Amino acid sequence: MRPRLWCKCAICQAYLTSSWSVKFTNLCDWYTHLLRNSPSQTIQIHVLNNIITANPENVEYILKTRFDNYPKGKPFSTILGDFLGRGIFNVDGDLWKFQRKMASLELGRISMRSYTFDIVQHEIENRLIPLLSSVGKEEDRVLDFQDVFRRFSFDCICRFSFGLDPKCLELSLPLSEFAVSFDLASRLSAERAMTASPLTWKIKRLLNIGSEKKLKKAIKIINLLAKEVIKQRQNLGFSKHRDLLSRFMGIVDDETYLRDIVISFLLAGRDTVASTLTSFFWLLANHPEVETAIKMEADRVIGRNKQISNFEQLKELQYLHAAIFESMRLYPPVQFDSKFCLDDDIFRDGTAVKRGTRVTYHPYAMGRMESIWGSDCLEFKPERWLRDGVFFQENPFKYPVFQAGLRVCLGKDMALVEVKSVALSLLRRFHIALAEPYHTPRFSPGLTATFSGGLPVVVREKKSSL
Ligand code: HEM
Repeated sequence: MRPRLWCKCAICQAYLTSSWSVKFTNLCDWYTHLLRNSPSQTIQIHVLNNIITANPENVEYILKTRFDNYPKGKPFSTILGDFLGRGIFNVDGDLWKFQRKMASLELGRISMRSYTFDIVQHEIENRLIPLLSSVGKEEDRVLDFQDVFRRFSFDCICRFSFGLDPKCLELSLPLSEFAVSFDLASRLSAERAMTASPLTWKIKRLLNIGSEKKLKKAIKIINLLAKEVIKQRQNLGFSKHRDLLSRFMGIVDDETYLRDIVISFLLAGRDTVASTLTSFFWLLANHPEVETAIKMEADRVIGRNKQISNFEQLKELQYLHAAIFESMRLYPPVQFDSKFCLDDDIFRDGTAVKRGTRVTYHPYAMGRMESIWGSDCLEFKPERWLRDGVFFQENPFKYPVFQAGLRVCLGKDMALVEVKSVALSLLRRFHIALAEPYHTPRFSPGLTATFSGGLPVVVREKKSSL
């Protein structure tokens, strides 16, 4: 099945002429509008040969019931192949099973959450807070929180996955060439998937021109870092270490494969956590009542003017947990995710799916569906996740923010420890105000949601801080 080059239906015309952008700032908002108005909560973009769904029954069908019929597929792995290689995000079958098993052993350890807690607390106390305290002393100095959170999560994922400390959050360091290249490669790879025909980027790659030339250069820099990470881990010794990379190095000796594994875990752990924190702080700045409720809960559980001391206390913060889930409902870090159909099929809602069709489920749109969340679905209300004050887990196919089914995210607990710890420390210690309060976020295209222009804030340390 190839996409049709031309189609005169209203949706395809709006897509081809970009007329959707007259009314909507982001492509995701346009898709959301279409999905909210579709009786089946499913739409088709014929020129992309893409079916997009926000119907939880279809999502369960794709991710669980007929998992084998909806792999990532060859078109997807070709698009992301230069960047992600054979890393876990880009493979199916045995390669996927092997990496998932190895990663589950590491990420599923009972002690994992308290180990993450210790790494994160160290990074917060020794880097994040000193950085913000020093910036807070300079009157009206604007800081990009998105950039700070990316550096923070990069340090954490490297320490956790590779047992190495890149010190990205050290004061006054410019964003490394590597991080810039990583963002560029993620954006340009995602843009490949948005072209109507893969021939466009393939020809550009062959001729080494334009965006493909830039992508090649970015990947070269990323490869250098990945090599360095592997070399350092080798030099330090990996047999006794219990980080993720050491686990893989004990079994895999193909350096390119190890490189792919390193890149995938960086992608998994850095951008998603940074994206969650960025949108959470944006929402809190617009909802001071939620910020107050978080601080009151913290004072009750941890004690006024006392610092969090262990992972158990973090677990008791039910309102904070609910507020983070609510934030990710409206701003999921992975806004949509695609698979490819292997054999002709029919979705739960009756949509016929031809072999070779790209099938996308859309967490961003799903978080904004009245049919799932009710008439107040566009409001930021952490209470919707609480029953008698205790967090209530929704059906994951209604809320596939961490995906769901057989390929559900393996780093969810780790991510939540990170996000909660940072939110708590910063909210209790600093006054944080948006530098551009009336600015509505606009997303940059990429594999993970990022605010184009970042999140400029002004921070000030509280007088009676912790
Ligand atoms: C708030 C933060 C996070 C969110 C929202 C998130 C979301 C997701 C999503 C949507 C997927 C499916 C992607 C796909 O198949 O294309 C995924 C997969 C995965 N995530 Fe996360 N993730 C987060 C943090 C993390 C962290 C910190 C790690 C730790 C290393 C991690 C590890 C993984 C892995 C290994 C997979 C692949 C699972 C598989 O294919 O079997 N994630 N995540």
